[in-house]
Parts: sequence; C-alpha cells; structure tokens
Amino acid sequence: PVFPSATTMDILFSREQIAERVAAIGAQISTDYAGQSVVLIGVLKGAAIFLADLARAITVDNTFDFVAVSSYGRARVSSGAVKLIKDIDNPIEGKHVILVEDILDTGLTLSYLRGLMLQHKPASLKIATCLDKPERRLVPIEADYTAFSIPNRFVIGYGMDYAEVYRNLADIRLFPEEVAGH
Ligand code: PRP
Ligand code: MN
Ligand code: MG
Repeated sequence: PVFPSATTMDILFSREQIAERVAAIGAQISTDYAGQSVVLIGVLKGAAIFLADLARAITVDNTFDFVAVSSYGRARVSSGAVKLIKDIDNPIEGKHVILVEDILDTGLTLSYLRGLMLQHKPASLKIATCLDKPERRLVPIEADYTAFSIPNRFVIGYGMDYAEVYRNLADIRLFPEEVAGH
C-alpha cells in the first residue's frame, strides 16, 4: 500500500479539539459514576489512544482492560462475523463497565462485544466512542458517550489506522479516498 505523508491530509479534529471533547466526556462520566468505580474495556488496537486519555480524564476510580476481536474485512461486504481473539483478564461481574472504542461504524464489533460482556453480568454496561459514523450502521447500536459524530469519510490518527499506519498521529485527519481505493 501507499502511505502518503500525514501532513498532506486535512485535519478533521485537532489535538486541542480532541482534548476538549475527551475532557468533557471524562467529566460527564465522573459525574454519572460519582462515588463508584468503573472498568474501562478498550477494543484493540484502535481504542488504545482514546482509552489512555479518557482513563486520565475520569476522576472516579477506574481500572482498564482490553479485548481483541478478529477484523472481518473493512469496505468489502462483510459476513458480519466477529470473533473474540483476546478476552478480558479480570472478572467484571457486578462492576460498572464502559466499552471504549475509537470508532463506531457498522456497529458489528460493539454489538457483538456488548452481548458478550453482558454474559459476564456487569452491574451496568455503557459505550464510549471517540467517533461515530451513524450513516454506516448495519445493526442498531448507539454510544452513551461520543466525542464526535462524522460523515462517512475515511479517517486516520488518534488510534485509527490505514494498514496499521498513522495510529500515532495526535490529530484526526481525512485519508485521501483515491488512495484508500473506495
Ligand atoms: C475498527 C475500529 C472499531 C471497528 C468499528 O477496528 O477500531 O474497532 O473497526 O467497525 P464496526 O462498527 O464496523 O464494527 P479494526 O477492525 O480496523 O481493528 P483495529 O482497531 O486494530 O484497527
Ligand atoms: Mn478497532
Ligand atoms: Mg483498523
């Protein structure tokens, strides 16, 4: 694949804009879970960066864990089959859990994980996502906390990749559609 320099790509959300929204969501979660503790569960790998920032923006006690799922092949007609590759390390029964994602797209990943996590009988289960692409939804699922809702554009940075590259970018940028080959 071709990896154009990120500096040639338009910034959709700057690091400052992201920080502002993460702080707001962290404050909201801290209010909603006042006096309680919460377990954040990030979905590898995209959610790692958002989770790292969000965990530090939440002032109530929180721990975090990660799950990994098989990717079912983006942009092609998908089977909708999602498979768990790595489960949580610590039990969540009776705990307040928030699933953390970088992006909510078709909804297949999060609806699968929500069903799976509910089997562990958490006290509560919510979803926090950095980005939401509501146009792309194939299954009905909504996040409880969303930093930004966006149109159907290919974005990279802040955990999000194109062929594993660009996850480390501080800003969220628009990846050129002609390179992505849509
Ligand atoms: C991306 C993204 C979400 C998921 C969203 O992960 O990080 O986890 O797809 O898509 P969906 O709503 O259509 O299920 P990807 O499979 O690219 O793996 P990655 O996080 O390792 O990049
Ligand atoms: Mn992911
Ligand atoms: Mg990806």
